[in-house]
Amino acid sequence: MISEKMNQLINDQYHREMFSAHQYFAMSSYFLDKDLDGFANFFRVQAEEEIMHGLKQFDYVHEVDGKITSGPLEAPENEFESVLDVFEKALGHERYITQNINAIVKAALEEGDFATHNFFQWFIEEQVEEESLMRSLIAKLKLIDGNTSALYMMNEELMARKAGQEAA
Ligand SMILES: [Fe+2]
Ligand SMILES: [Fe+2]
Repeated sequence: MISEKMNQLINDQYHREMFSAHQYFAMSSYFLDKDLDGFANFFRVQAEEEIMHGLKQFDYVHEVDGKITSGPLEAPENEFESVLDVFEKALGHERYITQNINAIVKAALEEGDFATHNFFQWFIEEQVEEESLMRSLIAKLKLIDGNTSALYMMNEELMARKAGQEAA
């Protein structure tokens, strides 16, 4: 049994995960439109993972006798200044998600909901990986610094990423 408050907090987080997918699909479109298929693939896989995160939370809430109530998602951003801009926005978004996951874990602890506290430990670890991944790709892009052949190589590397696999 989950409290109404925890149910609401996870309900909101479920929507944030679905919004993350929505945002990352928009980033994937941006790259497809620029013929950077590898970058597009990276964000498509990223979006698919966000749906998986949302579904984990969806299933958990129902498993503890709560209910997910679906509401609207915000419109994602579709326009970006550069490849680097996309990754910086993705990192900023992941940091925002981390703060929200931390707040849920804190609330779970405060009300003695150890099941929810335990369930979200996976997400705590996942957020460390998500932020680290975005930071490493930003560092690479800064090294590349507009060099077209290096960007092409990175595009090829990111093409190889598949769902459930760590990226470059
Ligand atoms: Fe996520
Ligand atoms: Fe994420």
